[in-house]
Amino acid sequence: MNIQSKPQLKDRLIIALDSSDEQEVIGIVDKLADKIGYFKIGLELFTAYGPSIVKKIKDKGCKIFFDGKFLDIPNTVSHAVSNMVRHKVDMLNVYLSGGKNMLLEARKSLLETAQKENIKPPKLLGVTVLTSITNDVLQNDLKIQAQLEEYVLHLAQFAVKINLDGIICSPNEAKIIKGAAVENKDFLIVTPGVRPVWAETNDQKRIATPKEAILNGATHIVVGRPVTGSKDPLDAVKKILDELEEAIR
Ligand code: C5P
Repeated sequence: MNIQSKPQLKDRLIIALDSSDEQEVIGIVDKLADKIGYFKIGLELFTAYGPSIVKKIKDKGCKIFFDGKFLDIPNTVSHAVSNMVRHKVDMLNVYLSGGKNMLLEARKSLLETAQKENIKPPKLLGVTVLTSITNDVLQNDLKIQAQLEEYVLHLAQFAVKINLDGIICSPNEAKIIKGAAVENKDFLIVTPGVRPVWAETNDQKRIATPKEAILNGATHIVVGRPVTGSKDPLDAVKKILDELEEAIR
C-alpha cells in the first residue's frame, strides 16, 4: 500500500518515544516523520532532555503528544499545562482521578494561554487507568471497589461531562466507552497497550492488536516498543498501517 496517500490513516498512529538517548530518538523521528501522525514524548524522554527535545522534534514538522500525565493540585497543574501550551505540543494529558477542579482549571488555562499566545489549542485528554494495571491491583492495592471496566467507563463519562477532548484507555475498554459514553464524534479515544500479533507483550496487560483497537472504537493508537525496539522501525510502521487500513476498510 502507498502509506503517503493516506493521511487520515497515518494520523491515527502515535509512536511512543520512550528513551533516554537523544541520538536514538532523533534517528527514529527522521525515519518515521512523514509516515505517522504523532510522536509521543513521555516522562523518560522529557526528564532527560526537557523542552528542547519537544522543540527539536517540532522543528522537523512533526506533531507532539506530550504524555506528562499531570496529577497535582489545580494551581500546579494549570501552570504546568500553560507551559506545555507555550512549548506548542499538539496533545497532552492529565489524570482524570485529579478531580473536577483540577480538570476544569487545566482546561481553562490551556484555552487562555493558547488564545493569549495565538497558538492553536492542543487537545486535552484524560488518563483513565494505566494499561499496565489489572483488576487485582485496582481492587487490592488501590482499594477501588468498582470493577476495572466500570471504573474506566465512569471516568470516561466524567471526561465527557467536563468537556475534555478525549481520553486514554486500554483498547479493550474502547468498545464499552464508544457504546455508552460518547455521542460527540470528535471525542478522541486514544489507546496504548497495542500489540501487533508479531510483537512481544512486555509489561502491558490489557492489550489488543492495532486492528482490534480500531474496530473497538479507538480513534488513535499508541505504539512504542514494537516499533522503536524493532530492527526495522519503518517496516513495523508499515505493517501496523496495513492493519489499520484493514480495520477501517
Ligand atoms: O512500548 P509500549 O507500546 O508499551 O508503550 C506504550 C506507551 O503508552 C508508554 O509510553 C506508556 O507510558 C504509555 N501509556 C500506557 N498506558 C496508559 C497511558 C500511557 O501504556 N494508560
